[in-house]
Amino acid sequence: MKELVIVDKPNSSFGEEIKKVRTNLMFSNLDDDMKVIMLTSSIPGEGKSFIASNLAAAFAQANEKTLLIDCDLRKGRLKKIFNIPPEEKGLSDLLINKKWKEEYKNYIQKTEVDKLSVLISGFYPPNPSELLASGRFEELLKELRKVYHIIILDCPPIVGLNDAMVLSKKADRCVLVANCEKTSMDVLEQSKNELLKMDVKISGIILNESEIHNNKYYYGHYYKDDKE
Ligand SMILES: Nc1ncnc2c1ncn2[C@@H]1O[C@H](COP(=O)(O)OP(=O)(O)OP(=O)(O)O)[C@@H](O)[C@H]1O
Ligand SMILES: [Mg+2]
Repeated sequence: MKELVIVDKPNSSFGEEIKKVRTNLMFSNLDDDMKVIMLTSSIPGEGKSFIASNLAAAFAQANEKTLLIDCDLRKGRLKKIFNIPPEEKGLSDLLINKKWKEEYKNYIQKTEVDKLSVLISGFYPPNPSELLASGRFEELLKELRKVYHIIILDCPPIVGLNDAMVLSKKADRCVLVANCEKTSMDVLEQSKNELLKMDVKISGIILNESEIHNNKYYYGHYYKDDKE
């Protein structure tokens, strides 16, 4: 799992930054109402899945029973990050299964990280937004909230798609990932405003640098925003 820097190199600068994000999130949970955290960004490729995976592992390392859900039903990448066999089923398969309540545990994979489980995205459906907006997904999350301490939703980007907006209705907190080399401040501002319109609490913005320079992982800076 070469992208799980927090596991391989927990004391690297990237590892330390992810731990800071985890701590900030934990301390922002004063009312104890934070269970489902979504990660999204304005446009593709800003590092959502990379950060979501490392952040989920960081929560698990802090002894929180954590579930990471790949909500990118268009091109989910978590199965690659966690080396999950391609034949395994995922969220979209589960959302079309009428017996989801009895069978959902079979769709969730344990990972090499203690206390971290993953639900991969599953087959690519023709109607991703509808599946994510379905009452069944709502009920599934209600069930999962009883089982896990922290649930992280790795979401698609905001611009041009409705999926992240739909998911923001289901999350308690949102963390926005931004890559300064790829996204202009205007676009970032627009994304933030779209999320605020949906009434989701934005916990912060992670400035990520997705290029690997000199084989070093570049860390993101975390700004607490608190526009709630
Ligand atoms: N901080 C980082 N350091 C090194 N590599 C990174 C970093 N962030 C992202 N990457 C790499 O950049 C690529 C894109 O990242 P990732 O898939 O996480 O983006 P994404 O925002 O989830 O994309 P999509 O919108 O397609 O879902 C991946 O190869 C990932 O390993
Ligand atoms: Mg992704």
